[in-house]
Amino acid sequence: MKIAVFSTHTYDKTFLDEANQREPAPFDLIYQEAGLSLQTVAFAQGCDAICVFVNDVVNAPVLEALHGLGVKGVFLRCAGFNNVDIDAAQKLGLLVARVPAYAPEAVAEHTIALILTLNRHTHRAYNRVREGNFMLSGLLGMTLQGKTVGIIGTGKIGLAVAKILNGFGCRLLGFDPTPSPEFTAIGEMADLDSLLARSHIVTLHCPLSEHNRHMINSKKLGLMKPGAMLINTSRGALVDTRAVILALKSRHLGSLGIDVYEEESGLFFHDRSSDIIDDDVFQRLMTFPNVLVTGHQGFFTTEALREIADVTFENFNCLANGRSCPNAVLKA
Ligand code: NAI
Repeated sequence: MKIAVFSTHTYDKTFLDEANQREPAPFDLIYQEAGLSLQTVAFAQGCDAICVFVNDVVNAPVLEALHGLGVKGVFLRCAGFNNVDIDAAQKLGLLVARVPAYAPEAVAEHTIALILTLNRHTHRAYNRVREGNFMLSGLLGMTLQGKTVGIIGTGKIGLAVAKILNGFGCRLLGFDPTPSPEFTAIGEMADLDSLLARSHIVTLHCPLSEHNRHMINSKKLGLMKPGAMLINTSRGALVDTRAVILALKSRHLGSLGIDVYEEESGLFFHDRSSDIIDDDVFQRLMTFPNVLVTGHQGFFTTEALREIADVTFENFNCLANGRSCPNAVLKA
């Protein structure tokens, strides 16, 4: 089976090649650095399937073009599938499969890194000390023990975050339409508005869907405690970035830590250090001392990349052997 792998970086190739070597009949992987879009879909010519990542464009026109080329499967190297038009894929009879859980602890630990860094200003302390400035002004944090953290989405990653923060002695509030008993054993469920009003830190761990785009908007930001911290390692468009900038400028929002950004495609996963970045919203965010941005690296651990590659090959094999795929994404 021949598979076009889009948005390939060296590390993807390393882990996919390693998994392919374990296959009794290795797959023919055609690596493309380019992301998938209507402009690049022709790279899938002659392939049985494609393999994509978070920012590849897998909308109806792209799916129709893939179908026209004879492609039968779309394999995501990630958990989120908000970039795929599942309806369109189903109508065309294309299998869409994902990697539903790979080291949720990896994303949870990165979330904690953002919280700890922003709270104790270690990103600023690092630079200060290297310049011989040992002043503490501006580095004041809060003791996390006893503070309330609101977790929006208490699934695998949200629960892993909750377990770590439980160890810190934080009070935990959760908002999720499907509460898990594992979470309620250590935290309390709340409605969204009360979670926002009661939390010193709010962290997002729910998938992006057509129903919750900009779920954190100016109204919801207004409900948050003055000086609270907002963390998003889930999907950028859950948060209205423009509203967040206003909340930071008014000093109502205390700090922001994001690993995802609503317009991250074209920025994240690329070296843009020699370019003029013309996204003024993103550039405004970069001017705040109390904003920390990482470029979608929450998943980026050896263990997670190995798991992504292994599950991706299990998914390839479902299509190759005509088996039903346990990781298929179906319209709810
Ligand atoms: P999961 O499916 O285990 O948990 C998601 C939870 O969110 C579920 O319990 C669900 O009931 C809940 N939920 C759904 N809609 C909601 C809403 N409107 N409000 C509150 N809760 C809602 O998924 P998992 O593995 O915990 O991943 C969560 C998200 O994290 C993914 O959808 C993805 O967007 C993001 N992610 C980010 C990564 C990164 O590198 N930064 C890597 C992997 C995932």
